[in-house]
Amino acid sequence: MSKIIVIGSISTDFVVTTDIRPEIGETITGNDFKTTFGGKGANQAIAASRLGGEVQMIGAVGADVFGDQLLQNLSENNIDVYNVERVTHLPSGSAHITLMNNDNAIIYIPGANDAVTVEKMTALAPILEASDLVIIQNETPQEVVEKVIRFGNENKIKVLYNPAPARIIEKGLMEQATYFTPNESEFHLLFPGLTASQGVERYPNKLFITLGSKGVLYHNGNKEVLVPSYKVQPLDTTGAGDTFNGAFAVAIASGMPIEESVRFGNLAASLSIQKFGAQGGMPTLEEMKRSPFYEKTWHIK
Ligand code: RIB
Repeated sequence: MSKIIVIGSISTDFVVTTDIRPEIGETITGNDFKTTFGGKGANQAIAASRLGGEVQMIGAVGADVFGDQLLQNLSENNIDVYNVERVTHLPSGSAHITLMNNDNAIIYIPGANDAVTVEKMTALAPILEASDLVIIQNETPQEVVEKVIRFGNENKIKVLYNPAPARIIEKGLMEQATYFTPNESEFHLLFPGLTASQGVERYPNKLFITLGSKGVLYHNGNKEVLVPSYKVQPLDTTGAGDTFNGAFAVAIASGMPIEESVRFGNLAASLSIQKFGAQGGMPTLEEMKRSPFYEKTWHIK
């Protein structure tokens, strides 16, 4: 099994489903409310674990009832939570999601997710060094993201950086990541003035732009490649990017070629968006194998 470390957010998602959004000062009646497990870090960890990765999570939750449930959920998904700290000075992270027309709008409150420190990364350096791949995203303090990318680069540790949600990071840092996977709007914030084609050509086999229902764009060193997504009827697209990242990570860490790894990620994402909740539809490897689109050449180690 590939050893994958995920550094990142662990949150509860509070999800409201509605047909209309209220204007400022207005109250409307929505359709439904549910709490589900989320956080981009935890989502990516669970996607990778369900697909056969040996996953360790590094993060923090509060000493509240949400923290208990978040830890239990990770453990039930076979994720090692030894390095998820319980902090008493901050509540567990949360995301407040409005679902409308099968698409989402999210307000993220970091809480304990902001308690992950650079010092902790230094202390856990041996664990990072022993991994096949490290995943990190932006629901983690900026200085931690920068430290991990730099450390990975200096120590030849593969780092998959998913720059979501969008924020500007130090120039030149992104290329130190082994792979980076913005969506279209994150790409434009990070590379103002550059078209997607120019971007992928500049970072062959490194920059993967996720384009939602259109697929994933990258450059293989010879030519630009658009790997189309699988056409399905989405029920809830929350966590689609996280599923892609977790699945892509497992495939690439298993030694699968890049284009096949992207297809593997796309198939996982297409299955995930057909069910409710960020983690609700994330497939297991068995579920992937039952798909008519699963390819015989795909081998997960
Ligand atoms: O990527 C989706 C996730 O981002 C949700 O699960 C929510 O926690 C948000 O922060």
